[in-house]
Amino acid sequence: MINQKMEKAINRQINAELYSAYLYQAMHAWFASKNLLGFANWTQVQALEEWSHAMKFYGFVLERGGKAALEAVKAPPAEWKTPIDVFRHIYEHETKVTGMINDLVDLAIEIKDHASNQFFQWFVTEQVEEEANADAIVQKLAIAGDRGEALFMMDAELAARAFIVPPWIKVAVTVGPATAP
Ligand code: FEO
Repeated sequence: MINQKMEKAINRQINAELYSAYLYQAMHAWFASKNLLGFANWTQVQALEEWSHAMKFYGFVLERGGKAALEAVKAPPAEWKTPIDVFRHIYEHETKVTGMINDLVDLAIEIKDHASNQFFQWFVTEQVEEEANADAIVQKLAIAGDRGEALFMMDAELAARAFIVPPWIKVAVTVGPATAP
């Protein structure tokens, strides 16, 4: 059975991951409105990843005999000035998320919840990648500067990112007409 303090902390993290999904979706809307569809694709894939992070925490709470509590998700911003502003925002946001994951690890250590600590390590590793990915794009955008052709090349590159459904997400697929036996 999960400790109540831990249950509350993980539920807060579920909300934070859902906010991340919402934030990336808002960024998708912004890039789509600028017709930068490769950047839009990258943020859409990231929104789906964030939703899958929320579901990973959600599944863990249930597995430990706790109750997942869903609260209101705050509205994300809708406007940015330039693509580099978006990615600077992403980098900053991900460093905040890293801090939240570290706080969860600290709590697990404090209350000797080894199972949660081990579970959180996946996110510790993931955050290293999330920060590095955002930082790499900030650096490239800084080099591209105001050169439109460099921006379009990056847009084409980011169009290649695809969402891979992680193993903890079970997708029910119905094949064929509803009347099939
Ligand atoms: Fe779920 Fe971007 O951290």
